[in-house]
Amino acid sequence: MCGIVGFIGNKNAKDVVLNGLTRLEYRGYDSAGLSLFNSRYQTFDVYKDEGRVQKLVDSTKNAAFSNIGIGHTRWATHGRVNKENSHPHYSQTRRFIIVHNGVIENYQQLKDQYLRNTILTSETDTEVIAQLIETFSQTLSVEIAITTTLKLLHGSYALLVLDSNDPEKIYAAKYKSPLIVGQGVDGITVASDLMALIGYSTDYHALDDKTFLVARKEGIRLFDLNNESLDLHFKPIELDDQDTTKGEYAHYMMKEIHEQPSVLRRIVTNYYEKEKSLIKSEILESIKSSDRLYILAAGTSMHAGLIGKQLIEKMTSIPVEVHIASEFAYQKPLLSKNPMFILVTQSGETADLRACLVLINQHHYKSLTITNVPTSTLAREATYFLELYAGPEIAVASTKAYVAQVAVLSLIAHELSNQSIDIRKELSIAATSIENFLSSEEILPLVREYLTRRNCFFIGRGLDYHVSLEAALKLKEISYIQTEGFAAGELKHGTIALIEEGTPVIALISDPKINNNTRSNLKEVQARGAKTFRIVMESCKQDGDEVILENVHPLLTPLVMVVPTQLLAYYAALERSYDIDKPRNLAKSVTVE
Ligand code: F6R
Repeated sequence: MCGIVGFIGNKNAKDVVLNGLTRLEYRGYDSAGLSLFNSRYQTFDVYKDEGRVQKLVDSTKNAAFSNIGIGHTRWATHGRVNKENSHPHYSQTRRFIIVHNGVIENYQQLKDQYLRNTILTSETDTEVIAQLIETFSQTLSVEIAITTTLKLLHGSYALLVLDSNDPEKIYAAKYKSPLIVGQGVDGITVASDLMALIGYSTDYHALDDKTFLVARKEGIRLFDLNNESLDLHFKPIELDDQDTTKGEYAHYMMKEIHEQPSVLRRIVTNYYEKEKSLIKSEILESIKSSDRLYILAAGTSMHAGLIGKQLIEKMTSIPVEVHIASEFAYQKPLLSKNPMFILVTQSGETADLRACLVLINQHHYKSLTITNVPTSTLAREATYFLELYAGPEIAVASTKAYVAQVAVLSLIAHELSNQSIDIRKELSIAATSIENFLSSEEILPLVREYLTRRNCFFIGRGLDYHVSLEAALKLKEISYIQTEGFAAGELKHGTIALIEEGTPVIALISDPKINNNTRSNLKEVQARGAKTFRIVMESCKQDGDEVILENVHPLLTPLVMVVPTQLLAYYAALERSYDIDKPRNLAKSVTVE
């Protein structure tokens, strides 16, 4: 949520920052801004406006060379989407310039207490930080003014600060929001995530909370908030350009949907050496010795968690509860005696989950984060973590990460169970089934025929019910069609009142045992005018079914059943000419609660 990038070195900072912002735009795209040093006037210029990074690229075309700069792409939290509220923000005398990702919860209080005589030019919480630094710098050194300010902030921040009086330094600090510093032959880049560093840095250090750094052309110094020096620990960057481009596809979402078979195969390769599982035995032992698992997650990841619960409970005797992270954090349920927590998260940065993990760690409970980003906060702060190996997911609507989450949860369930499933083979059959479907899919005509209304329903039973929830989220978030996922048998208990002539109802059917039950529910809605169609596994196929998928292991059907629903969402958004990879009001990494 919000992307920030800063660069100091031998290159034109404008290019590094704009390229980085373009790569981070999935984090927020309400507005974009950049600050560069103007050597003629010895000040930092600020370019910013509402809209996309491309607009900023155009407006900074003629900006002069500057070897230092910071930029920001915004997902609005405090203050409307407009130029004034866009970052960077100046302090009152324009000495300090700041970009920020996060939320300052006590900004009003800080304003009242320290800034009564300061005129603020925006509605943002961020500007308060710039003004406080300026206020404190009147009596303190800049570094102490910054750490003094940081100690007053409640909430979350990843921020970059420039000082016009010393234009050869970028100051950076972090608490709860992610921040990474990279070094390469041409200079130092500080950014919200690794993608902004590709092409400019060879190594990176992920900042810990409550640390603060000063980047100069010559090097980086790291401190704690008491200005005590700390060591940096650099690791090589293993991403490359290929991972972050659309390739032959028109949209990242389509590319990522098509990557799903290879993601499943990569998971098998990374988690098995021949037949031997590479999941650390201590993770499995911790799970086995707990009396109940609590899966915590949000959105799509929560839907993967619901499937995970089914898999673990069906393959083992360990009970599992699934909780929405934002609810769990503040309404902690009655826990079992010896709980263990599994946090499922693509980004590893979701603030709602972080709030849960803080609580979990306070009670010294064991936790496992399953994430796509091994450098992320939630990977680092949990007792254990497992990687999804999905590769960077750039489209805001999650597809391949969901499939990877379900697959990794299925591996955990398998390793805990005594059932003799050849999981490697079954996952590879699922990969082939997806591949075969994708190579001959005919989803667009279905979209044109059925998804013409303002609303829609997905129905299913058992695992299909949980896939319907995900199908509904995907369709609503990118096509803006109001969609609900429903347990097929539950519709008649009230919601069927919404069915009218032409309402689309899509049934997901993968389990022969309940095939006819779901079909009866379809009949009930058809009788009331609904336009229905079916997505089914071959084992459940009947004449006239519209989408038929090759059979896979009965516990792994969600991996395949979800794919046509991802395409339905994709084509529905395409038909409406919406911005598929960057749907309105959303951002990829939700780092505010
Ligand atoms: C929807 C989507 C979101 C995320 C949710 C949690 O397509 O991607 O619902 O699943 O915001 O994010 P992570 O998985 O990063 O914790």
